Amino acid sequence: MRGKISIIGAGNVGATCAFSIAEKGYADIVLLDIIEGLPQGKGLDMLEATPIIDSDVEIMGTNDYKETANSDIVIITSGVARKPGMSRDDLVLTNMKIVREVTEKVVQHSPNCIIVVVSNPLDAMTQLSLHISKFPRNRVFGQSGILDSARFRTFIAQELNVSVKNVSTCVLGGHGDTMVPVTRLCTVGGVPITELLPEEEINSLVERTVKGGGEIVNLLKTGSAFYAPATATAQMVNAIILDKKEILPCAAYLEGEYGINGVVVGVPVKLGKNGIEQIIELKLTPEEGAALKKSANAVRELIDIMNL
Ligand code: APR
Repeated sequence: MRGKISIIGAGNVGATCAFSIAEKGYADIVLLDIIEGLPQGKGLDMLEATPIIDSDVEIMGTNDYKETANSDIVIITSGVARKPGMSRDDLVLTNMKIVREVTEKVVQHSPNCIIVVVSNPLDAMTQLSLHISKFPRNRVFGQSGILDSARFRTFIAQELNVSVKNVSTCVLGGHGDTMVPVTRLCTVGGVPITELLPEEEINSLVERTVKGGGEIVNLLKTGSAFYAPATATAQMVNAIILDKKEILPCAAYLEGEYGINGVVVGVPVKLGKNGIEQIIELKLTPEEGAALKKSANAVRELIDIMNL
C-alpha cells in the first residue's frame, strides 16, 4: 500500500519536494498552502506529469487540513524565505507564528505522523514543532545537515575534479553561521581530505559551505535555495518510508548526547520507519566538541526568544 505524505507550504521548497517524492511512486501527496489556488494548481500540474514520469501516485492541492488526515509523514515548509541581507535567524518571529499554528493543525489531523521541519531558522523551528506537537523526539526532526553536507561535497568534488559520489563529509551543529563541518572525517574515495588538499584550501571550502545558503540568496534576490533543500528533504522521506536505516545528518533534539541537553542541533542519526531510530555519537576532539556546543548555544538563544 502507498504511504501518505502531506507537505505544508506549496512554495519553492514544498512544491519541488513534492515532485521529487512523486517521482518515487511510493506515496500519495497532499500539498497544502494558505494561498487559494496555489497548491491546487501545482498539485494538478504535477498529477498531469505522472504519466510521463511513470508514477501512479495521487497528488492533490488544498487549503483544508482535513485532506491531510492520517498522513504518515508531514513536511513543514511554510513560512517566509530569506532575502538578501537577512540571516536565517532574522526569520524567527514571523516563522514561529506560522510553524506553531501549522503544527497544531497537523497534530490534530495526523496524531501518529512523523514531522520533518524545513522552515528556518531550522533548529529553532524544529524545537518549536517538537514542543507544540508533544510527540516523542524520534517523530519530529529537521532537515539541514544533508543540505549542508551536499554543498560541502559539491565544492570538494569540483575542487578535486572527482565524482560527488566519492566524497563523504560530516557537518554537525545548527543550520547557520555556527555549523561545524568536521574536516577530519571528510573523505574522498576513502582518503581523508586532509591528505588531498592544503589546510587553507579546505578552510575556504568550509567557509563557502557555511555561507552556501547566503550565496544563493544573493544571486536569487527574491528568495532562498530550494532545489537542494527539497531533494535533501526527499532523501529523508525515502529513508523513512523505505525503512532504510540510513545514517544521515539531521536536526535532532539532544538529551545529553554530545554533552548537550534540551536543544535541537544537527547530528548524524539513523533514519528508518520509526523516524530517528538512533542518535549516532561520534568521538569529537575537544575543539570540535566546543564548536558544537557553541552552535547549540546559538540555537538556545533563539529558543529563549520564543519563550518555549
Ligand atoms: N500555512 C500554510 N502555508 C503557509 C503559511 C501557513 N500559515 N504561511 C505561509 N505559507 C506558505 C506561503 O503561502 C508560501 O507559498 O509557505 C510557502 C513558502 O514558500 P516560499 O515563499 O516559496 O518559500 P520557500 O523557498 O519554499 O521556503 C520555505 O523553507 O528553506 C526554508 O528558509 C526557508 O523558511 C523558508 C521555508
